[in-house]
Amino acid sequence: MHFPGRGNRSAPVRAVDGVSFDVAAGETLGLVGESGCGKSTTGRMIVRLLEPTSGTIAYEGRDISRLNRRELRPVRKDLQMVFQDPHSSLNPRQTVARVIADPLLAHGSSESAARARAVELMDLVGLIPEHIDRYPHEFSGGQAQRIGIARALALDPKLVVADEPVSALDVSVQAQIVNLMERLQKELGLAYLFIAHDLSVVKRVCDRVAVMYLGRVVEIGAKERVYAAPAHPYTQALLSAVPLPDPAAERARERITLLGDPPSPASPPPGCAFHPRCARAAAICRVEAPILRGVARGEEREVACHFPGAG
Ligand SMILES: Nc1ncnc2c1ncn2[C@@H]1O[C@H](COP(=O)(O)OP(=O)(O)OP(=O)(O)O)[C@@H](O)[C@H]1O
Ligand code: SF4
Ligand SMILES: [Mg+2]
Repeated sequence: MHFPGRGNRSAPVRAVDGVSFDVAAGETLGLVGESGCGKSTTGRMIVRLLEPTSGTIAYEGRDISRLNRRELRPVRKDLQMVFQDPHSSLNPRQTVARVIADPLLAHGSSESAARARAVELMDLVGLIPEHIDRYPHEFSGGQAQRIGIARALALDPKLVVADEPVSALDVSVQAQIVNLMERLQKELGLAYLFIAHDLSVVKRVCDRVAVMYLGRVVEIGAKERVYAAPAHPYTQALLSAVPLPDPAAERARERITLLGDPPSPASPPPGCAFHPRCARAAAICRVEAPILRGVARGEEREVACHFPGAG
């Protein structure tokens, strides 16, 4: 996904560049990385809120990246999104009944069937169905996010792209929403693309995790392996910022501080885009971009680094 640059002669913003991964039915893929690395853009392309500049998005084996509005309709209901800020993503002038029923009405439900389903969904996400005629501002942040989740579930999706669904919530509420999402996944067999900026949030929920840097995936693999033995220097730095529950381990934790800010995706550094911030960078890193490849035989993990490993 390349966006036009600002000003008519500026370079395009390569927001997401050469990313490839898949999400299996019923699984959770965590997608992490610093602000601006392209997580939301990736999520928005998958649910086709954005049309990719090039490349393919396949759903159940069918390329959906070039479908027009009409062709997208039946696919859209399977691919839904939950947004970061529940209040700003809900129309303040619509009652909860309206918010949740809207996608149903758009897909041909009658008013009464849509309302009945909205009541059912409120109960499913842990809200009091009697509150269905209230407005979003009458709910707390956590409750509003439950409404956002109910809306996303209205059409029985297969995949939910959750874009930092707990980042805007109080820490005390975050765990409740994560628990809710886990329960719904089990009950409904949902697949999640769970976007977060740090690795601690996705640790509980994900089966696999993909780490993005400047529009590219730099490491992807089973959660256990990536957390226990991160192979990319950027993953190592992100993980070193996560506090550990064990006090002794926490005291011994070595933080890797990254130098500087991430560069602009309008002018990514040559070679490995991470090289200006990488303590391990060598001459080859400045000229040749590493491709994503397996780190160890028999292990489903890929890393884009010339010198992957324990660092
Ligand atoms: N509509 C757009 N037009 C131009 N540039 C855009 C547009 N949307 C995103 N970008 C740029 O694309 C890059 C990736 O943005 P994106 O929102 O996907 O990042 P992110 O990883 O979700 O960040 P955050 O953690 O802040 O949400 C950024 O440089 C951003 O400025
Ligand atoms: S390719 Fe080189 S610069 Fe890039 S992450 Fe690996 S060691 Fe660092
Ligand atoms: Mg984002």
